[in-house]
Amino acid sequence: MNADGPDPLPSGRQRGSEDLSIRPALAIPSSEFRRAGHALIEAIADHLDTLSSRPVTLAEPPHRIRALIGGDDPLPERGTDPTDLLLESARILFEHSLFNGHPRYFGYITSSPAHIGILAEALAAAVNSNVGSYTLAPVATEIEAQTIRWVAELIGYPTDCGGLLVSGGNMANLVGFITARTARTTGDVPAAGLVGSGCPALRVYCSRETHTWIQKAADVTGLGTESIRWIPTDASLRMDASQLRSAMLADQQAGDLPLLVVGTAGSVSTGAIDPLYEIADVCREFGAWFHVDGAYGGFAAALRAEYPDLGALGLADSVAVDPHKWLYAPLEAGCALVRNRDLLHDAFSYHPPYYHFGEEATNYVDYGLQNSRGFRTLKVWLGLRHAGRDGYARRIEEDIALATRLAQRLRENGEFEVITCSLSIVTFRYVPEDARERLHDEQTRAYLDRLNESLLDDVQRSGEAFVSNAVIAGRYALRACIVNFNTRAADVDALPGIVAQRGRVIHTALRREEAG
Ligand SMILES: Cc1ncc(COP(=O)(O)O)c(C=O)c1O
Repeated sequence: MNADGPDPLPSGRQRGSEDLSIRPALAIPSSEFRRAGHALIEAIADHLDTLSSRPVTLAEPPHRIRALIGGDDPLPERGTDPTDLLLESARILFEHSLFNGHPRYFGYITSSPAHIGILAEALAAAVNSNVGSYTLAPVATEIEAQTIRWVAELIGYPTDCGGLLVSGGNMANLVGFITARTARTTGDVPAAGLVGSGCPALRVYCSRETHTWIQKAADVTGLGTESIRWIPTDASLRMDASQLRSAMLADQQAGDLPLLVVGTAGSVSTGAIDPLYEIADVCREFGAWFHVDGAYGGFAAALRAEYPDLGALGLADSVAVDPHKWLYAPLEAGCALVRNRDLLHDAFSYHPPYYHFGEEATNYVDYGLQNSRGFRTLKVWLGLRHAGRDGYARRIEEDIALATRLAQRLRENGEFEVITCSLSIVTFRYVPEDARERLHDEQTRAYLDRLNESLLDDVQRSGEAFVSNAVIAGRYALRACIVNFNTRAADVDALPGIVAQRGRVIHTALRREEAG
């Protein structure tokens, strides 16, 4: 009994007739917590041990998955034993998910999850720090600050920059975009808006290969997607810097403001790296903000000698990188860096009366869009400590070497046309023998597009391997991307055979369809 009346009842219990079979909701007794945790870790370890012998995906339709999880059941009235729940969930997840950590997953740019990151997620949840303010998260805040410095150091960016962890590349790029909008416009755009502030029409520039985050950013910041100037690329799909200059000059002469240029360090489709030094020069000439989308390739700057253009990351006003790509952090972890930390702060800092956080420490609520913030930094920080700079550099190098090996194997196979190979992305097409002599006629091109699109679908559903696609100069291509510490040479060597065998079957079926 407390002074104000009876103790509140734990939910699920009835006073008087204490029904102990109904547990107080949510709190799990210590001995049971340990049992559930140990059992879960065993299940996860078994999953990791056996992953390579299982299909990448079962490619099951939604109704099958809904049936498995009881997707049409109503909300349960009463709870269930936590160990049973966890093990049942683990079984369903491990038997029916698509695994981007599978050695033969060559799909989109999501990495195999670092083992230490898997454990870090549980540790972070146990502390449950709210990394919006130092007061609420003293250790986590300093860990985030150190992570920002280390990420900057790894890619050759000034370590006194501002920055923060976000959910992924889209959000990291958006942080750079918003900071540029506030920092480089005259008038008070955050308060008055684009029209009210009287600023000229704002223009942003990026290559045609830029990821779709740019449209979302232009849209939500009020610039509109029509403010984007899509700069053509050269034969290697790198932005043509002279065309960039011409476009900026034309806008400036028309009275518009060239606000921001996006250089991409590793494009989403082919891994192309824009000529970042040249772009930096053009930005300087026009006083434009230089942002680099390094969501995919930024961490290859750890291998600076091989990719001299990535040295220019250090010149950017802001950079986005994605620890959940080439630092192998489990989803989600993106990271925004801004050279001038004050500009980042100015773009996001408001001081509501209901917070008492103090100014002498870093309060991440003042550096980004989120208010309450999880401790996603922990998995990145532990990954950096576990692998070290050298560990990451060697692993990234290995992924790139595997991609180069894949391109070689595809060429040796003779049934493929390799279109690009850059960083750890290879794009290629299956080309049946009877099409090889007529690669450039329109009918053959259209047929190869159709064939490769069907082939992509077939390979993805096979569970033997998983590739994605790209459209390059109007041609439909298959795309293999390796950001995966589980992939071995044997997996790469197997891919051409898997795809070619399926390609032959689909080609025969399509030709038969056409004939009949
Ligand atoms: C170059 C590039 N930018 C941005 C993104 C978006 O990153 P995220 O999916 O983490 O939001 C990607 C994703 O692949 C990318 O490759």
